[in-house]
Amino acid sequence: MNFSLQLLTNHATLTSDCIVLTVATDHKLDSAAKAIDKACGGVLQQTLDAGDFAAKPGDAMLLPATGCQAKRLLLLGTGEPGALSPQNYLKLVEALFRELGRTKAKTAHLLGSALEVEARDCAWQLQQLAQAAVTASYRYTRTLSKPREAGSLRKLVVDGKPGASSKRALAQGVAIGQGINAARELGNLPGNVCTPSYLANQARALGRKHAKLKVSVLDEKKMRELKMGALLSVTAGSAQPARLIVMEYRGGKTGEAPQVLVGKGITFDSGGISIKPGAKMDEMKFDMCGAASVLGTMEAVLALELPINVVGVIAASENLPSGTATKPGDVVTSMSGQTIEILNTDAEGRLVLCDTLTYVARFKPDTVIDIATLTGACVVALGSHASGLYSNQQDLADQLLAAGQQSGDRAWQMPLWEDYQKQLDSNFADMGNVGGPEAGSITAACFLARYTKDYRWAHLDIAGTAWLGGTAKGATGRPVGLLMQYLLDRSGA
Ligand code: BES
Ligand code: MN
Ligand code: ZN
Repeated sequence: MNFSLQLLTNHATLTSDCIVLTVATDHKLDSAAKAIDKACGGVLQQTLDAGDFAAKPGDAMLLPATGCQAKRLLLLGTGEPGALSPQNYLKLVEALFRELGRTKAKTAHLLGSALEVEARDCAWQLQQLAQAAVTASYRYTRTLSKPREAGSLRKLVVDGKPGASSKRALAQGVAIGQGINAARELGNLPGNVCTPSYLANQARALGRKHAKLKVSVLDEKKMRELKMGALLSVTAGSAQPARLIVMEYRGGKTGEAPQVLVGKGITFDSGGISIKPGAKMDEMKFDMCGAASVLGTMEAVLALELPINVVGVIAASENLPSGTATKPGDVVTSMSGQTIEILNTDAEGRLVLCDTLTYVARFKPDTVIDIATLTGACVVALGSHASGLYSNQQDLADQLLAAGQQSGDRAWQMPLWEDYQKQLDSNFADMGNVGGPEAGSITAACFLARYTKDYRWAHLDIAGTAWLGGTAKGATGRPVGLLMQYLLDRSGA
C-alpha cells in the first residue's frame, strides 16, 4: 500500500477511484465538499437532505460520482460537530477501510485532513490511519485451497502538508500494522502447523534477516540443566518438544538495561489431564497469542530500528494428556527453587511463565512485561475490550495504561494485593498452581508475582482481547499496538 500526503486543490476535478468526505450530524458541507457536490449535480446535498445519512461515527455511505472525474464518493460520519473522541476517530477509520474493501477502488483520496480529535495531534491521526489500512488488508489464506480475494486498494492520498513528522507517523503506522498482522497470522495458524518448533523457526528466520537481532533457542535438555521443572511439567504429555526462544535486539547503547517481553506460547491447550470440555476447544490454538504478540512487536521494533534494547522471550509448549503427562497432585520444583503442587493441569500458562520469568533475570532488565492468554476469569471480568494489567510498580502500570489509551489497544489495571496470595496455599508444596474459583485472573497474577520480585514487572492477561470468536473468529494481534506505543515512548520517539 502506498501512502502519500498532498495538499489537494481543485477537489472537483480530482481523478480518483474514490473521494472520501467526512460529514457531521449538522450536515454542513465544507468548501471542498461543496465543490464536489456541485460537480456531481448535487448528489451529496440531496442524500443528506433525504435524511438517509445520520453521520454518526462509523456511519459510511457510498455514492456514485457522476459528473466528477472520480469514480465514487464515500461519505463518512463524524458525529456531533466539533472534535471527535479518539475512540470515534478509530471507528471512522475502521469504517473507511471496511467500505473501501467492499469496492474495487485501487486509489482513494481522503479529504478532511482538518479533522479534529480530542487530545490527539495530526501525527496520531496519520499513524492510526496507516495502521488501520495495513490491518484491514490482512487475509488469512495459509490453509485454504483457494485463496480469498484480496482487497483492491493500492494507493491512499491524504489531503495534508507533507513533512518529516507526517512521514514518521505513516512509517510507524505501517510498521505497527505489519507487526499486528504478523501476530494475527501466527495466532490463526492451526496447532498442527504452529508448534513450538515452528515458533522457534519463525524467530530464527527473523534473526537471519536482521543483523541487530540475535536469536537462540533452548531445547528440553537445556531446560533440564537449568532445572525448569515447572515448564517441563507442562510439556511432559506432548510428543512435540518444548522450546524456549530468546530474541535479543540491540538497538540502544551497549550495557543499557533492556525491555524484556515474555510471551506465553502454548501452541495448543487441551487442559492436559484436567482436560477441557469439547466446546470451543479449537480456540485453544490461540493460546500462543502472547508469544505471537512478542514476535509481532519484535518485527515492528526491527522495522523502525528503535534506539533501545529489547529482549523477546517465548515459552513454547503444547499442553496435552498422555501416559507421561503431569497429573493433578504432582509436585514439581521450579527453576527458582520454589515447589508447586499441580492441582489443575489446565493452569499451565503460569507454569511455563514462572520458569521463563526466573530465566530472564539474567538480562538485568530495566522492565519485564509478560503477555499471556492466562485465564478465562479475565474474560469474565473485562470481556474483549481491555486486557487485564497487573504490576508490582505503579509507575510502570501507569506507563502501560497510557500506552493503551494512546494506541487504542487498552488495558485496565487489576489489584495485586497481598490479600489474594493466601488462596495459593498448599499442604504439600510452597504453593498450589490454582487459587480456587474466586478472583481467578488475580490469583494467576499473584502466582507470577512470586517469581518477579527482583525486577520491575507487569503482566498483561490478554485472554479476552487476543482473539475473536463466532463468525469473526480470528486473532486480533493485540496487544502489539499497546506494546509498540510503550516502546516508542521509551525510545523518546
Ligand atoms: N489458556 C487458558 C485460559 C483461557 C481460557 C483463555 C479461555 C481464553 C479463554 C488457561 O491455560 C486456562 O486453562 N486457565 C484456567 C485456569 C484454571 C484452571 C485455574 C481457566 O481459566 O479456566
Ligand atoms: Mn489451560
Ligand atoms: Zn492456557
